[in-house]
Amino acid sequence: MTAATPPVHMEFLPTTSSVPFSRPHKLAASNPQTSWDRLKTLNRSRDPPRNASSVLHRCHRQVVRGGSVPVLVDSDATFNMDVSQLASKITPKTKAIICVHTYHFPVDMEPVLALAKEHGIKVIEDAAEMIGQTCLGRPCGSFGEISTMSFYPNKHITTGEGGMVLCDDPELAERCQQLRNLCFDPKKRRFVHEDLGWNYRMTNLQAALGLGQLLHLDEAVQRKREIGRLYSKLLKGCPGLILPPDDLRSETNIYWVYGVELLPSVPCEADEVMKHLAAAKVGTRPFFWPMHEQPVFLQMGLFKGQSFPVAERIARRGFYIPSGLALKDEEVEEVANRVRKVMEMLLSDGGYPK
Ligand SMILES: Cc1ncc(COP(=O)(O)O)c(C=O)c1O
Repeated sequence: MTAATPPVHMEFLPTTSSVPFSRPHKLAASNPQTSWDRLKTLNRSRDPPRNASSVLHRCHRQVVRGGSVPVLVDSDATFNMDVSQLASKITPKTKAIICVHTYHFPVDMEPVLALAKEHGIKVIEDAAEMIGQTCLGRPCGSFGEISTMSFYPNKHITTGEGGMVLCDDPELAERCQQLRNLCFDPKKRRFVHEDLGWNYRMTNLQAALGLGQLLHLDEAVQRKREIGRLYSKLLKGCPGLILPPDDLRSETNIYWVYGVELLPSVPCEADEVMKHLAAAKVGTRPFFWPMHEQPVFLQMGLFKGQSFPVAERIARRGFYIPSGLALKDEEVEEVANRVRKVMEMLLSDGGYPK
């Protein structure tokens, strides 16, 4: 018996037969953003990666913390990065393109991969919302030099918190492994550290939950699609709303959320519609807020005077309605009825009383 035996650590290591995880190296972490310090992992540089403006704050946080300056492109109508804007933003200093698949469909990866190859730059992929989704016939999470997935409770698989880093390169995997665990180096004497890391280890309890959840991944994805299609059927023709399409390019919508956008003819913004829906007891969430309008980044002098009209529009005119896996069909019907009533009232001659 030793004085300080560390607990046996059960890894959340999905088998390679779990398609979304079929990459040679995968590391569960208490926070998948470990890999957002992937600029560090990929040899940190101050050179800017490219990313869309309308993604999550957390996707830029580590880039900025690492001392790099992200360069933004606008979003497109699918709520993903507008890849047609990438080429003009690439300079000899560009190191990576960060692709964050958002809400319904993956980023259009074909041009991204072509550009990355042409310019010898890396692709970093955030597949948090697309566990079980495919792109170009490959699983999301298989495109990045480093890819991440989140197992936050609103994802298709949850471990409460945490996620996973996936990559093909064994050296990169080893580097991530060290960064995850305080940069202990198994080849060196214990407690001698060559670099700073974090404690981003996933606990055994979380790993057990994740392995159990994995058994139901296909069912979860199928149910999300059923809910999405049922909403589209029930909300067809609903005044004022742009509904998400069921397919795009060769992909089928995964409906991680059911996101809608207000038509230009709706005279108010999403906030007001969401208030009326709340009064009708329908919970909603707003879309992500653009990076170039984030107070924290503006205070840092980033993105000053920049404008990304699509990201600005969808942030103000988009929202999503309940689509959790626990929803029954009758509840989806009830939500759709209430959404339709609210939109009809809003767009009626009198509208809502002021
Ligand atoms: C695109 C994207 N990335 C990452 C995350 C979550 O990251 P984390 O689990 O580190 O909070 C989310 C969660 O909503 C997400 O939508």
